Amino acid sequence: MSTRKIAIFDTTLRDGEQSPGCSMKLHDKLLVASNLEALKVDVIEAGFAIASPGDFESVQAIANHVKDCTVASLARCLKGDIDQAWAAVRGAARPRIHVFLATSPVHMEYKLRMTPEQVLQQATTMVAYARSLCPEVQFSLEDFTRTEEEFSWRVIESVIKAGAAVVNLPDTVGYAIPEAFGARIGRVLEHVPNAGQATLAVHCHNDLGLAVANSLAALKAGAGQAECTINGIGERAGNAALEEIVMALKVRRDFFAGLECRVDTTKIMATSRCVCSVTGSRVQANKAIVGQNAFAHESGIHQHGMLANRETYEIMTPESVGLSQSQMVLGKHSGKHALKDRLTQLGIALNDDQLQELFTRFKDLADAKKVVTDADIEALARGLEMRNDGQQKLVFDRFLAATGNTNANVSTVRLKVDGQTVEEVAMGSGPIEASFNAINKMLNLHVTVENFAVSAVTANVDAQGECELRVRHNQKVYLGRGVAQDIIEAAIRAYVHALNGLLEDEQRMTANAAALAAAGAGGGLA
Ligand code: KIV
Ligand code: ZN
Repeated sequence: MSTRKIAIFDTTLRDGEQSPGCSMKLHDKLLVASNLEALKVDVIEAGFAIASPGDFESVQAIANHVKDCTVASLARCLKGDIDQAWAAVRGAARPRIHVFLATSPVHMEYKLRMTPEQVLQQATTMVAYARSLCPEVQFSLEDFTRTEEEFSWRVIESVIKAGAAVVNLPDTVGYAIPEAFGARIGRVLEHVPNAGQATLAVHCHNDLGLAVANSLAALKAGAGQAECTINGIGERAGNAALEEIVMALKVRRDFFAGLECRVDTTKIMATSRCVCSVTGSRVQANKAIVGQNAFAHESGIHQHGMLANRETYEIMTPESVGLSQSQMVLGKHSGKHALKDRLTQLGIALNDDQLQELFTRFKDLADAKKVVTDADIEALARGLEMRNDGQQKLVFDRFLAATGNTNANVSTVRLKVDGQTVEEVAMGSGPIEASFNAINKMLNLHVTVENFAVSAVTANVDAQGECELRVRHNQKVYLGRGVAQDIIEAAIRAYVHALNGLLEDEQRMTANAAALAAAGAGGGLA
C-alpha cells in the first residue's frame, strides 16, 4: 500500500490562545511548546508576532527553543507584519511565515474594503515578499469555504507561483459539511494547474461540531496538512481537536488507507493535561480521547464484556494515548524523585523553586490524606502561586474565619506583602467574601471577581477543594487558582494568585512607562 504523509500543524498557541480566558504567559507557552515537540507535531504555530511585544517575545523564545518542529508565526498580508514575523522566527531550526488574507465576498467587501483583484494582487505580492525573507511560506485564504470557487483557484495558483509552499484553505466560520468540503478540496487539485507543487492544508472551526469530520474528509480528498489544537481550544466553538484527528487516522487506518502522521500518540494525555493546566480550561468529562470518562466503563454489561475481552467495548487502548494504568500510589513516604517522575508523566514541568513548594504541599497533604492521587498532584500544581522567578509580591500565610448561618461572617487574613507581614479583618456575606474584603482592605484594591468556581479534586469527603476564579481590573482579566483541604483557604489562595498576576502586570507597565519617559528625555538631549 502506498503511503501519503500528513503534516500536523498545531495552532494551540495562536488560534487556541485566542479563545476567551485561554491566554498564556511566556513560561506557559514554552511548556506547551516542549510538550508539542515531544508529541512530534510537524509545525508549531507559536503566535502572531505583530500582535504585541509579549507575543513577539514568546514566538521568538519558542523559535529559539524548539529543534524538532517547524515554528511559524502568523502575519497579516502586510509588509510590517511579515517583517515582525520573520524577526521572531528567523532563529528557528525550521522557520515558517504564515500569511493570511480573506477571500470571501463578505470579508473582502465589509472587512477589507478591497476588490477581488486587489486581494489577488496583495496576496501574491506579499507571499513573494515573505518568500524573499523566509525559506518556507504558507498562505491562508481566510474564509475559504465561503469564497467564490473559481476566484479561490486563481488565488491558489497565483500564491503558489509567488513561492507559497503550503496553501491553507480554512473553514474560518465552521460552515462546511464534510462531504462537500472533501469534494471542494478534490476540485482544487483538479482545477489548479500547479496545485501539485504545494501542500494543501485545512484549518477547520467547530461552530457546527464538524471541525474534525471536515478535516478528515479533506485529508482523504488529498489535503496534506491538518491544522488543529490540543483539546480543540480556539476561537468561538474552537478548532479541530488534534487528538481526535490523529487517533481517527490511527484507529481507522483501514479507512484512511495510506495516510500517516508522525505524532507519538502516547504523549497525547500529557500534552492535553499541560494545556488544561496552563489555560485553566478543563475538558468536558465525555470529550473524545482526553475526557475523564473516555476510557471509563460504567454499566454492568460493558464491564462484563471488558473483562471477557477488552475489544468488546474498546477501539483503542488507554495506553495508546498515554493514559497510564499504573496504580503506583504516592503517600507520605514518597520522596521528591518519585514526585518529580510523576509530574513528568503528567506533563507538568516545574522549576526548582516550584518543585520545592509543591513537595512541601504534597507532604502536608499526604499527612492529611492516606493516598495522594494524580488528580491531587495536578490540582496542587495548578494551584501553585509562585511566580516563575520565585519572588511573588503576595504570599498567603493564614486566615481565621468565624462563620455560620446565624451570625455575621468575619475573616482575618494574614499575608506577606513584599516580605512584610500584614493582617486585616473584614466582614462579608460569607466567609470567602469576608476574606477577599480583608485582602482588598490591606491592598486598597477595587477589583471584580468573575467565574468563581469551587470543586472537589477527588470524590471522597477528605478531598481537597480547588478554587478557580478570574479577577477583572482595568479591562484586563487575571486567572487565579488555589488548592487546599479547606475551601475557604483554596479561595483565598486563588484570589492571591490572581492578584499576584495583576500586580506583576502593573509593575511591568510602570517600568515600561518609566523606560519610555527616560528614553524620551534622552532623545531630547541627543
Ligand atoms: O480561522 C482562520 O481562518 C484562521 C486563519 C488565520 C488561518 O485562523
Ligand atoms: Zn482559525
